[in-house]
Amino acid sequence: MNIKLTNKSSTKTEIKFITSEELAKSRYKKLLENAGFEAKEESSCFLYEKEKLFVGVEDKNANSLRTAAAVAARTLKKSNFKTAILTVSEKSIKPVTEGLILGAYEFDKYKTEKNDKKIIIELVSKKHTELKSLFKEAKTVAEATCYTRDIVNTTPDDINPETFAKLAKKLAKENSLECAVLEEKELKKEKCNAILAVGRASVHAPRLIHLAYKPKNAKKRVVLVGKGLTYDSGGLSLKPATSMVTMKMDKAGASAVLGMIKAASEMGLDIEVHAFIGAVENMIGGNAYKPDDVLKSRSGKTIEVRNTDAEGRLVLADVLDYAQDKVKNPDYLFDFATLTGACMVALGQYTTGVMGHSSRLKHTIGKAASNAGELTGSLPFNKHLRKLLKSEIADICNIASKPYGGAITAALFLDAFIKEENKQKWLHFDIAGTAYTESPWDVNNYGATGAGVRMTVEFLKGL
Ligand code: BES
Ligand code: ZN
Ligand code: ZN
Repeated sequence: MNIKLTNKSSTKTEIKFITSEELAKSRYKKLLENAGFEAKEESSCFLYEKEKLFVGVEDKNANSLRTAAAVAARTLKKSNFKTAILTVSEKSIKPVTEGLILGAYEFDKYKTEKNDKKIIIELVSKKHTELKSLFKEAKTVAEATCYTRDIVNTTPDDINPETFAKLAKKLAKENSLECAVLEEKELKKEKCNAILAVGRASVHAPRLIHLAYKPKNAKKRVVLVGKGLTYDSGGLSLKPATSMVTMKMDKAGASAVLGMIKAASEMGLDIEVHAFIGAVENMIGGNAYKPDDVLKSRSGKTIEVRNTDAEGRLVLADVLDYAQDKVKNPDYLFDFATLTGACMVALGQYTTGVMGHSSRLKHTIGKAASNAGELTGSLPFNKHLRKLLKSEIADICNIASKPYGGAITAALFLDAFIKEENKQKWLHFDIAGTAYTESPWDVNNYGATGAGVRMTVEFLKGL
């Protein structure tokens, strides 16, 4: 999709966002009603003869407009119209641009026949020069989200820990970021035994990736950590066949932090951003790590493995510990992970679970997320759930002794690896439900959504 910002249009085909109240007064009321269109959210009606595409909105707030723009992009892609215009204002330009790009997204890497229909959207405003910077910002964020989606959607055969590291190096080169990659030998030297155990049965050795964006006179320092399971078979605690399908998405946290640092560097934010990624493949084999193993993590804490499918928290334990040693005194420490099915049970598939100690920080990120059009829900810690991680033979268990509250007990496990001085700066985001979808919703089409990118960039912008 090619989106242009202009003050005069070159075509008549027009996209119109319309509420049910506006529909009742519209000169096209009869035609639209005859077509069964009620201006409901996520519905559209193309009056081909009139060259008008109507998309329903509940009201004209940013989130409704973003969703409607995505619906418009999808509808146009299916039509024979190549060019359309959309009138924009200072208020609507950002959500509309984001919605168009995200809604038009398609992952066709593995299709022999590509849908090469190029759509041109002209965003029209008399004040188009003043809207340029907002337009550019929206494009950067949406394209970074699509970049994240592309990585997540790529198959585990094409993206394994080694190729993930290559991808990170490529981004570092393109965006002038610092980049360091720890390979097996260095991981051993660093005593990242939890990462090494999880990756042991894979033919692709794990990687710990560190990217840094360091602008001059940075106002804040932010550390972003991502779970990068390029495939999660469950390991010896093997997943059932149907649950294994889509587990290429277990690298969504890592892919999101790449998207975030990409956007931050392209926007030239005056914030120092560090991205740490644990890229690992969780497989089975004669040398696989086992339930009953005890691992000595990088932090020195010992972990009793009772389920090899709770591997993300093991990888994150080492990455979080490493990140906190590498970047002293960060202002914020966020981790992103497709960590638990339990998070989906708790909040549904559309809401990212947010956990941590600072109520203020949870509130701030919740507002940033909502401004960016992402849904978040806070899941509270408590001392009773914490007790469920007690091990009789090691310092901590990798799963809780009771099945309820699984998203929270996973986060409490991570909390054991957060240093005292960083407790109030840390937030954990469980994107298990939000990172991937098999049915389109909001601005998301089939596959990866890029969850976390928009809200985190919005948060960074507000610092
Ligand atoms: N990657 C999964 C979590 C997941 C499940 C993400 C479904 C996306 C969709 C994670 O590694 C996992 O398997 N977690 C287990 C934890 C359990 C063994 C305590 C789970 O959620 O079942
Ligand atoms: Zn797992
Ligand atoms: Zn996993």
